Amino acid sequence: MKIPNKNPMIRFWNLDEETIFLNHGSYGATPKIVLDEQNRWRKIVEKDPVKFYEDIAPKALLDARKAIADFVKCDYDDLALIENATSGVNTVLRSLDFSINDEILIPNHAYQACRNTVDYVAKKTGAKVITCDIPFPIDNEQIIIERIMNCVTERTKLALIDTVTSPTGIKMPFEELVNLLEEKGVMVLLDAAHGIGMIPLNLEKIGASFTTSNCHKWLCAPKGSAFLHVRKDLQKSIHPLTISHGMTIPLDGTSRFRHEFDWTGTRDISAWCVIPFVISEISKMVGMKWEEIMVHNNNLVIEARKYICKKLDIIPPCPDDMLSSIATIKLNFEDFTKLSIHEPDSIHLELLEEYNIQVPVWYWPNPEGRYIRISAQIYNHLDEYKYLASVLENVCKN
Ligand SMILES: Cc1ncc(COP(=O)(O)O)c(C=O)c1O
Repeated sequence: MKIPNKNPMIRFWNLDEETIFLNHGSYGATPKIVLDEQNRWRKIVEKDPVKFYEDIAPKALLDARKAIADFVKCDYDDLALIENATSGVNTVLRSLDFSINDEILIPNHAYQACRNTVDYVAKKTGAKVITCDIPFPIDNEQIIIERIMNCVTERTKLALIDTVTSPTGIKMPFEELVNLLEEKGVMVLLDAAHGIGMIPLNLEKIGASFTTSNCHKWLCAPKGSAFLHVRKDLQKSIHPLTISHGMTIPLDGTSRFRHEFDWTGTRDISAWCVIPFVISEISKMVGMKWEEIMVHNNNLVIEARKYICKKLDIIPPCPDDMLSSIATIKLNFEDFTKLSIHEPDSIHLELLEEYNIQVPVWYWPNPEGRYIRISAQIYNHLDEYKYLASVLENVCKN
């Protein structure tokens, strides 16, 4: 099989030249210029750590919040810089007071780590977890809206809603869901792990109680950079996972929310300092505006999925307009072995070890089978997915 062409843009990343990297969705990938800029910040820290943390960092972090706020359209004072979406979800769920009379609503397509957090909090507080079953394959967004809204009762206190689901790659009708749920008095925790840099977001307009998004995925910022947006009326009830000086520092014209989230102890904050650079320079590096990058990636994944499905004679499990930059496809693999979500799938390993293709394959229970999830980022080339399709034709015969 002919090794596929690579997109010339790949030169901007450190990705292994031998690997066909089709999994931006799991951990992102950071361009070389961004890593260099992060190193520049680390040097500034070590030149004089006291000066850095006391004088330089507050301004750098403010600039980071301003850059994010401009991107996702919100007040920069409503943003907290955090390390990842998992901690964003934990921060909210572990701050709120749940009781035996409360219900927490979560779709069955939610990311397992977030599901675990919901279960943990529910066990501790006596709250009940209501799992909403969303079918997959799925024909349209209306089905999701109906299923979720049918699960709401007068006890529903919070709903965890994804922007884009991780195992199934569905773009949820999250704007409409937030609107309907918040209108009914249900707080929405929007899991936008796949959010900033992937799909347009206007947080003021969306109006969710809480939104968390990873900058290290689709914005291509360094690992450990994410944000949590908390609506002003709820900021008093949300505290960082780490309680520090901010709890008692005099307010001095700012909010407790600001103080608490702005300092949670000494740590490497270089990933956040780089965010304004990431937003302005990646766009210049690839010669596209961010809106164009998002459209480009969306178009590439649609084209890639179409090609793979046609080649493997698979019916696409959701319409194109429910895709973002990731797409999940159920493999026609008759003789599949039931696998746990905690174990690497043997097809995933075969694709990586025999063909140098880095793409996730996992077990999904309903309908039971093996699913592959492709990602499309600016450094990918359609030929890489064509190659994957040809390889899958062989692998799935076994
Ligand atoms: C929907 C969803 N939520 C949360 C996460 C967790 O992200 P992180 O590992 O950066 O905390 C992921 C990661 O892939 C995800 O896909």
